[in-house]
Amino acid sequence: MNHYFTNNDKLKENIQKVNVDIHSINYYFYTDNGVFSKGELDFGTELLLKTFKYTYPQDKKVLDIGCGCGPIGIYLSKLGFTVDMTDVNEKTINLSKKALNEQMLKANVFKSDAYENINDRYDYIISNPPIRVGKEKLYEIIMDAKKHLNENGEVWLVVRKKQGADSLVRDMKDIYKTVNVINKKKGFCVIKAV
Ligand SMILES: C[S@@+](CC[C@H](N)C(=O)[O-])C[C@H]1O[C@@H](n2cnc3c(N)ncnc32)[C@H](O)[C@@H]1O
Repeated sequence: MNHYFTNNDKLKENIQKVNVDIHSINYYFYTDNGVFSKGELDFGTELLLKTFKYTYPQDKKVLDIGCGCGPIGIYLSKLGFTVDMTDVNEKTINLSKKALNEQMLKANVFKSDAYENINDRYDYIISNPPIRVGKEKLYEIIMDAKKHLNENGEVWLVVRKKQGADSLVRDMKDIYKTVNVINKKKGFCVIKAV
């Protein structure tokens, strides 16, 4: 069975451009067959980006883990952050690079299974995480984020209530200093941990 996070070269190509407007910041990204949220911006991702609060992007480094086709990392790059974007799906890496290049934006996009190829530390780690990979890998991505944060660094996530947001928040409280759900809409929860 193929999931959006598996690499599958046999899928027919169907590249679509998705235009985005978040707080009057306009940009686009590309999707294709075999990727998450084909042909559109995921509602949860949009809620996460509209909720995300930040200061002084020019001085800050951000990791978009599980970047998919890049809607989060491209936005952050446009805001002026120094951005790393990672995914296990090679197609999403190429689509993210294409959209960044065309819009003359810079980000370091590379393949990494969770933190396998990530050695840096960040001020923000932000993700619409891959719930379907199972609890073990999901928790590796979310709990090990702490090891890659600078002092007072923040983790921002969007998770559906029905996909276990409440128990995730409880478990995150064992690892992080503060964990709060700071926005909720249509069953999606935006979680911020410090
Ligand atoms: C829910 S999607 C979000 C994609 C994109 N950030 C967005 O908001 O549209 C989760 C992404 O995590 C990626 N992923 C799955 N397993 C992963 C892993 N072990 N390490 C890193 N990324 C992974 C998937 O390929 C997918 O692109």
